[in-house]
Amino acid sequence: MSESQVKLYYKNVTAEVIGPEHGIAADQLKQLAEKTSPLISQLNKEKKDGRTPYRDLPFNKEISRKVRELVAELKDRCENLVVLGIGGSALGNIALQTALNPYMHNLDDKQRRGPRLFVFDNIDPPQLTSFLKWLKDNDRLKKTIFNVISKGGQAAETMSQLMIVHELLGPDSYKKQIITTTDTRQGTLRRITEDVGFRSLEVPEGVGGRFSVLSAVGLFSAAMCGIDIDSLLAGARDMDDRVSCEDFYKNPAAINAAVNYHFYKKGKNISVMMPYSYALKDLADWYRQLWAESLGKVKVSAGNEVHVGPTPVKALDTTDQHSQVQLYREGPNDKLFTFLQVNNFDRDLKIGLAPEDASELAFLAGKDLSTLFNNEKRATEYAILQSKRPCLTVFFDEVNAYTVGQFIYLYEVTTSFAGALFGINPYDQPAVELGKEATFALMGKPGDEYEKLAQQIQSLTKIDGDFLV
Ligand code: PA5
Repeated sequence: MSESQVKLYYKNVTAEVIGPEHGIAADQLKQLAEKTSPLISQLNKEKKDGRTPYRDLPFNKEISRKVRELVAELKDRCENLVVLGIGGSALGNIALQTALNPYMHNLDDKQRRGPRLFVFDNIDPPQLTSFLKWLKDNDRLKKTIFNVISKGGQAAETMSQLMIVHELLGPDSYKKQIITTTDTRQGTLRRITEDVGFRSLEVPEGVGGRFSVLSAVGLFSAAMCGIDIDSLLAGARDMDDRVSCEDFYKNPAAINAAVNYHFYKKGKNISVMMPYSYALKDLADWYRQLWAESLGKVKVSAGNEVHVGPTPVKALDTTDQHSQVQLYREGPNDKLFTFLQVNNFDRDLKIGLAPEDASELAFLAGKDLSTLFNNEKRATEYAILQSKRPCLTVFFDEVNAYTVGQFIYLYEVTTSFAGALFGINPYDQPAVELGKEATFALMGKPGDEYEKLAQQIQSLTKIDGDFLV
């Protein structure tokens, strides 16, 4: 292992810091270690047996080779890269871009190391209309590549976007300007890909959307936009070593999951992730989906249905200090906080001199903005600890592709541990299906089942004027 390490700090969840009523006592930590330790070998075995294919992604040289090949072919003639995808087919792309490219990437030609990136993970009509108008009006369309990402290949949102872009590009450019990323063998998008002859990348077998950012799903847009995908994968491989460690106390994913599980069982069922870094803010969004879709499940225990799942919440540094912290300190003590802290920012500013008639601001003058920022984190953590609420911190020495790769893999494996602790399957999402089917029914998808479903929906969701005020 080399370079800087992402570290998980967990002292501030202990009884020593927040007292015995809310904190984890030494004997409780020991019990958690005893419960979680066997899961480490279980997960290692699942990995070895190929039952968790997402864990092989950092080691798969073929994927990055194909991605690099396509990037080499397209990069010079692409000024705008538009990702069309949703959920796990978009959130990782957004997170990588925000974390690893400058804030002004899209707006400043001198700062960007690849095309501008736009990710459309929803179908809001005014938003998409306005964007497509910008492309057309400025004659930008011909230097635009669309990366359509869908594992299942039938999400109504992504497929509608594809059809809109089809009309926009017309038959000549359609084939040239679309790259698909989809299942290796099946699904509507794979079929279209083969029929039209799109250039295409693969979502590997057995890798679900929210675990796919380290496959071509996330790597293609990242590499196109100048992100070092080799370092990203190297960081994930480094973390693979650490989260495979059979010693619970040295395994950050096992500890992270065990701490989350403990607090959930104690009624602290809300997990707030609060990055003190704009760059890391969309990783908190990515985590929110990973955690919610993987762990929010119903299971049968002793003949009863049991609903489990911590509720992930994203908050952002000083922005949310001035919005959420009142609730976090005086509201219900039902949350576990995870701060993300960056020790060394790659850019910094000095705070200027205080105006002459504002000597009360002199204490800030000449200090680094990063000092203020990280002290704000420390101050918020202190205030929350004073209210006896548990806090974890994930430390990044710096934000770069290597540490972001570590973080992604840490949270993916933490999710696997948490799934095992909760006794649920973290890799499926059965409850998402009904909403998708209902959309198909309402949009008139043919078939008796859809017609019946559409009638049921109409009757249940019909607006009753008596209740409209
Ligand atoms: O994690 C998941 O499996 C989901 O969030 C999917 O990524 C999302 O529903 C999009 O699905 P698809 O990639 O099949 O269009």
